[in-house]
Formats: sequence, C-alpha cells, structure tokens
Amino acid sequence: MTKPATILAQSGRPDRVQGSPVNPPIVLSSTYRNSGTEPGNIYARWDTETWNPFEQTLAALEGADFPALVHSSGMAAITTALHAARPGRIVAPRHSYHASLVVAREMAEREGGEVVTVDIANTDEVVSALPGASAVLLESPTNPMLELADIPTIADAAHEAGTLVIVDNTFATPLGQQPLSMGADIVVHSATKYLAGHSDVILGAALAATEELHQTMWDYRTHTGSVAGPFETWLALRGMRTLSLRFERITANAAELARRLADHPLVEAVAHPSLPDHPNHERAPRGCGVLTLRPKGGREAADRLVEATSLWLPATSLGGVESSLERRRRFADEAETVPEDLLRLSCGIEDIEDLWEDLDRALGVAVR
Ligand SMILES: Cc1ncc(COP(=O)(O)O)c(C=O)c1O
Repeated sequence: MTKPATILAQSGRPDRVQGSPVNPPIVLSSTYRNSGTEPGNIYARWDTETWNPFEQTLAALEGADFPALVHSSGMAAITTALHAARPGRIVAPRHSYHASLVVAREMAEREGGEVVTVDIANTDEVVSALPGASAVLLESPTNPMLELADIPTIADAAHEAGTLVIVDNTFATPLGQQPLSMGADIVVHSATKYLAGHSDVILGAALAATEELHQTMWDYRTHTGSVAGPFETWLALRGMRTLSLRFERITANAAELARRLADHPLVEAVAHPSLPDHPNHERAPRGCGVLTLRPKGGREAADRLVEATSLWLPATSLGGVESSLERRRRFADEAETVPEDLLRLSCGIEDIEDLWEDLDRALGVAVR
C-alpha cells in the first residue's frame, strides 16, 4: 500500500501527459456548459473540479472508500456530520471543541433531544451513555484537555446500540490515526489546522464509511451550500503536500518540550499524550502537536506568560508552522472543568532550542 508521505506528495495531480501542469488548475466558474444530454459538472455548489484533488488525497490518507467532502470550515463539516445522525441524544466529550458542543446542543434540542457530555477517557461512562443515543462525537485527543478515548471499544459498543460514531480527527491527523479503520462511521476535520497547515485558510472536510452516509452528507452540503471556495481548497492541498514533514517535526517539538517542562520548577502541570504519566498513554495517536501547560501562580501568571513570550504567538487556533499559545478559559463558552490557568500550546516547526529558550525566559518573567 502506498505510504502517507508518498500519497501527500503525489496524489491529486493532473494526468502525466506531455505538457500537463504539475499542479491542478484552480477553476473559477460557478456554472458549466451542460445541456443535460451527457454527464458532467453542472453547477459548482454540487461539484467542481478544484475540490476533487483535495478530496481524493484526504480520502487516500484516511483509508476511505469515498472521496472526502470538502466544506467551508471545520464547523460546517461537523454540522453536516451531526445532521447525518437521526434526531435524538448526542453523546460528546465534556471537553470537546466548544463550538462543536454549541452546534450539537442547538441541533439536538431543536429536535427534542439533548447533548450528554461524558469523560471520554472513561470508557465505561461513555458506553453506558450510548443506549438510545443517535450519535457519539469523539475527539481523541480532546481539545484542549488532551484526554484519549478508546475509539475501537466505544465504536463497537455504539454500533451495538445503533449509535452513529463521528470522530473529529483534527488533532491527530490521518498520520496519527485513521478512525475509519477503528470503527468510525464518519470522520471530520478542521482542515484549517494541520492539513492546510499555514494559518491562511478556513476549511473543513467530512468522510464517510458507507456510500449511504456519503450521499446523505453530500446532499446536506449541497443543499445548505456549506461549500468551500476553489482557492481555499487549492491552498489546503498545497499545504498538505508537506504534512508528513511538518507533523513529524511539530510532534517531536511538542514531545520534547513537554518532557522538559514536566521538570521545570516554575511549572505546576504539563500534559501531552507522549508523557509516561498521561493516564491513557497507550491510546495515544502517532504524534500530537499540542501540549498544555499550567504555570505556578495561577491565572494571572498564565496571562503574563502569554504576554511575555516573543516567539510563541498569542493567538487562538493551532496546527500552523508557527508556534502559538493561549489561555483557553478566556473564552466564556469554554468548559468550566478546564482549569483557569491552562495554556494550550500549539507547537510549530521552529528550532526546538529557540522555542524552549523563549518559554523558559517567559516563565521566569511570569511566575513571581
Ligand atoms: C478539534 C476542532 N474541531 C473543529 C474545529 C472547528 O474548525 P474551523 O475553525 O475550521 O471551523 C476546531 C477549531 O479550532 C477544532 O480545534
């Protein structure tokens, strides 16, 4: 089987005929010459050729039988995925990306259902919430607490209960884990993050395990119009070409920083799936670019730390080539079980010693 790095470099390119370009062209056209007598593109909300190379490449990476469905954002893809479930109760990690919970609640409550939040690392708790649920939305690692789920066990129990399994694979990327092979029915991505990888695009994608789910999501995307622009999709594919190099460097940086921070005298707590004291270390994906840090001195010290860094960019989002950090509880709708002083660090591809020096110096300024 073709390896991920090769798929990333080679997939989605034009046929190798004399004079053909190496990259797919960006087609800017809302409609197509189509008299209805022969197959072919009709209207760009339905399908447009600039999506196809991205959609095929991501499907190959995720081991999916059907092309990915590119969306205007990760949230648009999550909305589509949730819509593919029958109305009812949705089970989700208490530390899901907060907008996913907002959308799930709105959707479930409108239909007379509810969202039940669980500790996704506690498999017994998740499994006992499944009977009668229409969908379980998994994040592993969770955003921002980096809890790890036992995806195969939860997926088996969900299927027995008739519950749709949706996995948000944004943090792990398909290089870290392939949820369809672990039992997921649908995989979603904020391609804004590691896939596109350069903090210059908002984009999402959803992938299905079955043709029926693929068609349901294709219909929803098409009818609601949560479609991506050709330029954004092209940029995401361009960024994705280097995903394997970026992800390798980013996750090596994150693991090494976590290891050093764990021994830092001014640090209260550090979490990263690679650390031996992570409670579900054995469920870790092959790499994670995010780590969390709680400095000594509480919320004030955390705020000072964000201000004191010079390389680390104070910014939300993650998955870019540049390192960034933020205190998650600055957002009013972040879960109250996320500690006030928790900083989420998104590691970039910079030199590890420069990143370390900046953090170490900023800790010295922030912790009084
Ligand atoms: C895990 C996760 N899922 C989904 C999203 C939403 O993605 P987007 O901002 O592309 O809509 C985010 C955004 O931060 C995220 O972190």
